[in-house]
Formats: sequence, C-alpha cells, structure tokens
Amino acid sequence: MVFGIRTAFCGLLGATALVAASSSAQAAGNLNLICSADVVVCELLENAFEQETGVSVNMVRLSSGETYAKLRAEARNPRTDVWWGGTGDPHLQAAADNLTQQYESPRQSELRDWAIRQYEASGGKTVGVYAGALGWGYNRDLLAAKGLEPPLCWADLLKPGFKGEIQIANPNSSGTAYTALASLVQIMGEDEAFAYQKALNDNVSQYTKSGSAPVKSAGRGETMVGVVFMHDAVAVAAEGFPIEAVAPCEGTGYEVGSMSIVRGARNLENAKLWYDWALRPDVQSRLKEAKSFQLPSNKLAEPPPEAPDFDAIKLIDYDFEKYGATETRRALLERWDKEIGASAQ
Ligand code: F6P
Repeated sequence: MVFGIRTAFCGLLGATALVAASSSAQAAGNLNLICSADVVVCELLENAFEQETGVSVNMVRLSSGETYAKLRAEARNPRTDVWWGGTGDPHLQAAADNLTQQYESPRQSELRDWAIRQYEASGGKTVGVYAGALGWGYNRDLLAAKGLEPPLCWADLLKPGFKGEIQIANPNSSGTAYTALASLVQIMGEDEAFAYQKALNDNVSQYTKSGSAPVKSAGRGETMVGVVFMHDAVAVAAEGFPIEAVAPCEGTGYEVGSMSIVRGARNLENAKLWYDWALRPDVQSRLKEAKSFQLPSNKLAEPPPEAPDFDAIKLIDYDFEKYGATETRRALLERWDKEIGASAQ
C-alpha cells in the first residue's frame, strides 16, 4: 500500500516536471540550423546552445555549395532559419540572390575587419565567423615509404609520384574545393588554372563531397595527399595521425567562414538569438574543444594555439566580392564540370 502511494506521488511529480519542461521548451521554441563546418563542432554548438537557451535545435550538416543549392530550392517555402559556417563565397551568392536577410548584431563592434568586410560586401546579410587558409595535408609515412619529397608547392602536386594519390572535393558541393578553384584562377589566371587542374586530374583518385574528407582519408592512409583548409589538416594531425600541413609556396587563398539568417525564417527571433550567441567571444573560444582550429572572428575570443599562423602563409588578396558573385561562381563551376568533372576518373 505504502509502495502504491509512493508510486502515485512520484508519478505526479514526474508528470509535473514533464509539463514544466515541455512548456519551457515551448516557450523557448525551435531553431532549424544548417551547419557547414565539421560535424563535431556543429554538434558542440548545437548542444551548448540548447543547454543555455532551452531552444530545441534541429541541425543538419551540409557542405557549403550543397547548402546554397538547398536554400535556393526552398526559397518559396524556407525550412531553414540560420546557416552557420561554410565558406563565404556561397553565403555572398545567397545574399545577392536575396535568399538571406539583413541583420546587425550588437556584437558587430567586437569583430575583426575581415568579418565586417564580409558583412558590408553582402549588404549586411552575412558576417564572418572564422577564417582559414587553404593548403593541404600529406601523410608523411606513405611519402617516406615511396621515397618522395614533400609536396610544398602547387607545382609539386603534378609530379608523377603522386599519380592516384591526391584527393580534393568537388567544387559544386564543397566550399573548400571552390576556394581552391577560385584561388588557382587568381594565382595563375583562368586558362592556366584550368590547364593546371586538368594536369592535376591525372593524379586525383577521388573528388569527395565534403571539403575536409580528403585529409581524413590521408590520415587513415587511404591517400597520400588531401587538398583542404590547413586547419583541417592540423585537426587530423592533432588526432595523432601522421599528417603534415602545407601552405603552398606560390601563395594560396583563404576563406571567411560565414553565418546568415534565411529570408522568411520561421523562427526569426531564435535565429537572431543564435546569431548573437555565435558571435560571443566565449562561444568562439570553445570551437577548439572540437578541434576546430580556424581563426575566430571576435577579437576578444581566444584563438587556438594550433591555428595556422596567417603571417607565415603567403596569402593572396582573395577577391571575395568577385568570386562570391553569382555570375563568376556559376561560370567557373560550369567550366569545371565541362573540363574537369566530365573527365574525372
Ligand atoms: O571542416 C571545417 C571547414 O573546413 C570549414 O572551415 C569550412 O568553412 C567548411 O569546412 C567547408 O566545408 P565544405 O568544403 O564541405 O563546404
């Protein structure tokens, strides 16, 4: 009998707690988030935001180009509220196509110049959240086993020793690979960059969907070289894999990883809550917990000691406005499909 009363009492307590929890979740509401960085950091942010705000986050990880295509496809009936991370070019294209909306965070004055330039270039529809330089990672054990010299320059990747030993993503889906394509065009000129990529194609075994996949494969010993953002190579090395990160000797491009609120977002207040939260210095300082070693955009955030040193990298003056413009991006991707993608092994 006593047992029966206790059970009923506990049941009542449980039901009350359940009602309280569900009404606070209702008050806090939902957020539909697309995250285009590494899934580990996406999950870290998702959980931290949920814990702090009570908002229920529905997060999907998609590559940068894939996200742009999804936002276009759902423009009339948006399913996404906020897009966090991914390279800046497709965020700029989404802004120009009116798929995203203007918002200025109270955190704006704390941001680095490159983050604000991204905001200004988009008419206030996107903002920089991190930056990272393009390069590659190679597996030093596989290289030593083949007796090859480390590839330190773009030109080295064309050497016959690397036949079938290089992976890079497809620039249609991946912002990393589009950054590579646009960087090569800016370094070499367009025709030379396409001639280079045709020659490189002889050494490429696979064009992956996600940008960081190539260096993860290199870490596992499945390929010798992965062309990726340098911070992704450093992250695989930090996991204990025999990976060396390289900043190409001829110079290289970089990304301004960005964040945008979708036009017609159903959960607009929560999208703004996320936006302000994701620019907070303490939140950006936590990215390194997930081995996300980009340079954070808030000047007050603590950069990861592992982040590649921008001063030691020969960075080009990447023209974000031109290469994030719809006509440039579309033309380069069409040419890539015709001249490289169509003949990919
Ligand atoms: O893995 C992290 C990262 O390199 C980000 O710095 C970048 O914005 C994103 O991935 C690009 O991913 P993708 O090439 O798959 O679009």
